[in-house]
Amino acid sequence: MLQQIDTKILRSNAQGLADAASLLESGELVAFPTETVYGLGADATNGKAVARIFAAKARPQFNPLIVHLPDKEAVTRYVNLPKALVGVADAFWPGPLTLVAPRREDCEISELVSAGLPSIAIRVPKNPTAIAFLRAFNGPVAAPSANPSGAISPTTAEHVIDGLGGKIAAVLDGGACNVGLESTILGVEEDRVVLLRPGGLAGETIETLIGYPLKSPSRGGITAPGQLASHYAPNTGVRLNVGDPEPNEAFLAFGPAPERHHTRNLSPSGDLAEAAANLFAYLRQLDQIVTYDHLNGIAVAPIPNIALGRAINDRLSRAAAPRDTPVSQ
Ligand code: TXA
Ligand code: MG
Repeated sequence: MLQQIDTKILRSNAQGLADAASLLESGELVAFPTETVYGLGADATNGKAVARIFAAKARPQFNPLIVHLPDKEAVTRYVNLPKALVGVADAFWPGPLTLVAPRREDCEISELVSAGLPSIAIRVPKNPTAIAFLRAFNGPVAAPSANPSGAISPTTAEHVIDGLGGKIAAVLDGGACNVGLESTILGVEEDRVVLLRPGGLAGETIETLIGYPLKSPSRGGITAPGQLASHYAPNTGVRLNVGDPEPNEAFLAFGPAPERHHTRNLSPSGDLAEAAANLFAYLRQLDQIVTYDHLNGIAVAPIPNIALGRAINDRLSRAAAPRDTPVSQ
């Protein structure tokens, strides 16, 4: 059980915005209005804060999150916007539009935000409270819709409190969202714009601008990692629930463990949020170690199947699954 905390309701004025920004800076979660729905915000560069989003929403998996920025100029600091999306960004940002673009090499956004994908979903919202909040924080804010997993997206501060009261530090009250439908998500395939999720910006409006029909993603909408069993698969084999790794295996440990060569410990103290924040980065590092040192694969310690541990195990079992096996979930 998560400890219940006293969720503050902050007004959309100078004091409220400053308080909201400083809570984010200290790694807390703050729900905030956008023109689409309320988002559950965390500092996108702080993996532990991002992990808290999944815990608060009780999401069984690490779906990739949308990163919110206050203006178009900030976007190129984190991603390389493909040519095909530049005109769309110019025309419809700020607004109910999210663009998926390749992460820049020097991007400081936590890998947990994009759930290990090489791309990041970015949005510049239009709601004045959202913009003021993002400017006050002055950094990238990761935010899914501010509802418990499986529940309806919130369009007022009261809805947020109903679903997440006691689980998050604060909600910034900016009144009702005027779009009320999540953002339209676009990506690119072969220099053409593809529609990844229909949303608050009509497809027709986008088609008028680009001059051709929006494509559907060629892999039948499989763009989120949760939909492919093997999406997280490193290049090398992964063996789960290993108490005692072989000498020729790299080891992904969890909890108190003896010092060992070729090992990363997700959380020596057994903290699942810390483990979640480290998961993708450590898998990647061990994958490289296995390749360079010609080891046999990665052995993974058992992770308790509770709270964030379920999501960690979900991703680990995908990493261990044969390639490209669709899973039902
Ligand atoms: O209007 C909205 O989009 C709201 C507000 C808060 O901005 N946010 C929202 O977030 O709806 P969420 O987490 O409920 O949905 C995010 C969607 C998911 O379907 C996810 O799979 C997709 O964005 N997504 C995120 N990053 C992605 C990526 N790198 N590639 C493909 N899809 C991605
Ligand atoms: Mg949602």
